[in-house]
Amino acid sequence: MRVILLGPPGAGKGTQAAGIVEKYSIPHISTGDIFRKNIKEGTALGTKAKDYMNKGLLVPDELVVEIVKDRLQEDDCKNGFLLDGFPRTVNQAEALNDSLGEMNVSLDKVINVDVDKEILIERAVGRRICKECGATFHVKFNPSKEEGICDQCAEKLYQRADDTEETVSKRIEVYLNQTQPLIDYYQDRNILVTIDGQQEIKKVFDEIVVALGA
Ligand code: AP5
Ligand code: MG
Ligand code: ZN
Repeated sequence: MRVILLGPPGAGKGTQAAGIVEKYSIPHISTGDIFRKNIKEGTALGTKAKDYMNKGLLVPDELVVEIVKDRLQEDDCKNGFLLDGFPRTVNQAEALNDSLGEMNVSLDKVINVDVDKEILIERAVGRRICKECGATFHVKFNPSKEEGICDQCAEKLYQRADDTEETVSKRIEVYLNQTQPLIDYYQDRNILVTIDGQQEIKKVFDEIVVALGA
C-alpha cells in the first residue's frame, strides 16, 4: 500500500497516520517529523530547515526531495509507505513520480483530509505532543487523561514552536498557495479521495480505511 496523506496544517494527518501505519504495517514518513528530529539533534539539515519552519514557510524543495528519495530506498518501504506532509509542491510531486518510476512502483491512493480554515488554527494551537513517543493530543478535542502528560508513556507533552496563531495562519496561507494545487494534480490522475476531516477522529479513520479498500 503506497499512500499520501494530503491536507492543511492541523487537518489531522499525523493523528490518522498513527492508525493507518499500524493497520497496514507500513512505515510513516513525515517530512515535518524528520526536520524536527534534525533540529533537536542539531544537524546541518536541522539548522537549514529551522528558520523556514519557524516562519511557517516551506523548506526548499531541494532539501526535502533528496531526503524522501533516500528514505524510500530503505528496506521497510518495500511493501509500501505512508507519506505525511510530502509532497507539498507540484515540483515535489513530479520528483516523487520520477523516483517511484525508477523503483517500478506506483501510488495507490492520495487521501485528502479536508477541514475548514477556521477550525485549523484552534486545532494547531491546542495541540500537545509527547516528547518521547510523539503521540498527539489536543487540550479540548483529544485531551490526555492527565494534563500535560502522555497517556502512552507518561512523559511530558510539549507544544510545537510553529503552533502559534500567527505562524499557523502563515502555514495555512502557504498551504493554499503551494500545496492545494496538488488536489487537482492527483484528481487528474484518478487516485485522489477526499475525506471530511471535521468528523470525530475515529469516524475519519473508518472512512480512510474504506477509501483504501481494505
Ligand atoms: P508538518 O509537520 O508536516 O506540519 P503540517 O503539514 O503543517 O501539519 P501538522 O503536523 O501541523 O498537522 P496534522 O495534519 O498532522 O494534524 P494533527 O494530526 O497533528 O510540517 C511542518 C513544517 O515542516 C512545514 O511548515 C514546513 O516548514 C516543513 N515541511 C514539512 N514537510 C515539508 C515539505 N514536504 N516541503 C517543504 N517543507 C516541509 O492534528 C492537529 C490537532 O488536531 C491535534 O491536536 C489533534 O489531536 C487534533 N485533531 C486531529 N484530528 C481531529 C479531529 N478529527 N477532530 C478534532 N481534533 C482533531
Ligand atoms: Mg503532522
Ligand atoms: Zn508518549
